[in-house]
Amino acid sequence: MKAVVLSGGSGTRLRPFTFTQAKQLIPVANKPILFYLLEDIKISGIDDVAIIVGETREEVKEKVGDGSKFGLNITYVEQDAPRGIAHAVKLTRDFVKDEPFVVILGDNLLNYSIKELVREFEESNHDAHILLTRVKNPERFGVAELDTDGNVLNLVEKPKKPKSDLALVGIYFFRKMVFEMIDQLKYSWRNELEITDAIDMLLKNKYKVKADIITGWWKDTGKPEDILDANHLVLDLIKTDIQGTVTKDTTVKGRVRIGKNTTISKNSYLIGPLIIGENCTIENAFVGSYCAIGDNCTLKNCELESSIIMQGTKIECRKKLTNCLIGTDCEILDSDHYPKGNKLIIGKQSKLFLE
Ligand code: DAU
Repeated sequence: MKAVVLSGGSGTRLRPFTFTQAKQLIPVANKPILFYLLEDIKISGIDDVAIIVGETREEVKEKVGDGSKFGLNITYVEQDAPRGIAHAVKLTRDFVKDEPFVVILGDNLLNYSIKELVREFEESNHDAHILLTRVKNPERFGVAELDTDGNVLNLVEKPKKPKSDLALVGIYFFRKMVFEMIDQLKYSWRNELEITDAIDMLLKNKYKVKADIITGWWKDTGKPEDILDANHLVLDLIKTDIQGTVTKDTTVKGRVRIGKNTTISKNSYLIGPLIIGENCTIENAFVGSYCAIGDNCTLKNCELESSIIMQGTKIECRKKLTNCLIGTDCEILDSDHYPKGNKLIIGKQSKLFLE
């Protein structure tokens, strides 16, 4: 079995982060979302992976490399523009050949391994296997209508009037006949070749499409609040591991992970679950639950909660920061000098919520 991971697209809803990095590389609990997927693919016994890359190809290639650090053989497949998930899948025809394959959207995060599903699909006679989950806002997803026996009747991408609350999760198992369906697709209203339409076409052509309704958590990290939610979910699972230095005057409660060469001192207060990366300096800071602080950050005289702070950022500011998503190499400082007032130096499409 082979795997196809989609890491193209433009990530407009995650600007300004996606001006400078691929959305699939945004860290959740200090690890890029894409890495969780690649690690699980390896655990599932798959070695050959094609990664679809678009305008952020250089960063993805730089971070993932040839796949050897994951124990995978990685082939990069270039997509000239985000013309749809089915368009991306179509580009992998030569890579997939006649083998069954799993397609994984590079911005989806799941709290369990696909290992069992991979084995089940390999041993089954299903032509496709999809995963569904109940959501509050089905109009944001591909939506399935099922009959009373749980068979899928049809699938519609982002319907205005959804027939159910069952959304397609971004993990799909296929065999080669899906390429025949894709060849017949027309571009949708959003000018994309929709994988949802290709699966619907499999159904209309009487191919066997198995659907499972999953109950564990799943996150499509399309928007900033989704990334923060995913961070909560992953941090809920972490175990304590302190590799850095925590001085005696620091209070530590709950589960915390602290990376090498990080020093926490001067009456700091940590409440887990949280993760702090390597080479950080934390002094007289309150770092509350559900924070993920990247490598090389400096936090002094500040108070943080439920936030992702990416690497190289410096915070020395007495305002409490909560539910923040802060990019790499930012500075948030007290405004101590005249003229008084909030001094903001921020880039295109940044968002600030000031108290
Ligand atoms: O997350 C699940 C949903 O994903 C499904 O319920 C929908 O049926 C499915 O269409 C998809 O919807 P999105 O609108 O959220 O897909 P998005 O454009 O965010 O793309 C998903 C991933 O695939 C993302 O990592 C970018 C990548 N991608 C996307 C397109 C359109 C590509 O690599 N190439 C593309 O052409």
